[in-house]
Amino acid sequence: MSDPVPVLTIDGPSGAGKGTVSRIAASRLGWHYLDSGALYRAVGVAASWADLDVSDPAALVRCTFDTRVGFRETEAGLRVIVDDLDATDELRLETTGALASAIAAIPEVRAALKERQRAFRQAPGLVADGRDMGTVIFPDAPYKVFLTASAEERAERRYKQLKDKGVSVTIDGLLREILARDARDAQRTVAPLKPADDAVIIDTTGLGIEAVVERVLALVPVRAG
Ligand code: DC
Repeated sequence: MSDPVPVLTIDGPSGAGKGTVSRIAASRLGWHYLDSGALYRAVGVAASWADLDVSDPAALVRCTFDTRVGFRETEAGLRVIVDDLDATDELRLETTGALASAIAAIPEVRAALKERQRAFRQAPGLVADGRDMGTVIFPDAPYKVFLTASAEERAERRYKQLKDKGVSVTIDGLLREILARDARDAQRTVAPLKPADDAVIIDTTGLGIEAVVERVLALVPVRAG
């Protein structure tokens, strides 16, 4: 019997550096990359296009089943296509993140996205970035990381990212949003944000991206390529 395709799961709260670290790790390993948050965000975008009421779970569940999400590698980076439209920029908005977090608390939505996420597990390996990659989606993954950082540092990183993009926000506002989102993600009854028992916890406060990538890759004994 052949060995299962290896998976490196990288979970943690928003702003801990998961996205950047996961993309670099996947590229160095030559493995596939799953941005699971983008799937929840894509449903959020589709729900807002359809003007759905966020307090109507049945409509949101239908929307999850009906929404087609594709990922396209381009020279300008990974583009996310929602129902044939490029939704990459809309996906990154704070309002979409908040909507995604509310939608992600609905058990039927999570169940509907489970197999779509598992389908990304393809040879030679997968780096999976999210909240429940190591606990629920790939519990048998051999390599599991949980990245954290203080809420203040996460707000500051997000502030810099948005400022670079010309989006006008305040650090205080971002900090409030991050704390509210953390609380919602940690308190929901299905797949709450928490490290897997066998995850290595890395606090990235004060660490540069390269230092974090090194620590993460040190867990994977054989590097492909
Ligand atoms: O990682 P992100 O900020 O793109 O995720 C957006 C929201 O989606 C986040 O607030 C919680 C939810 N999410 C989730 O519940 N489970 C995941 N595996 C990924 C994201």
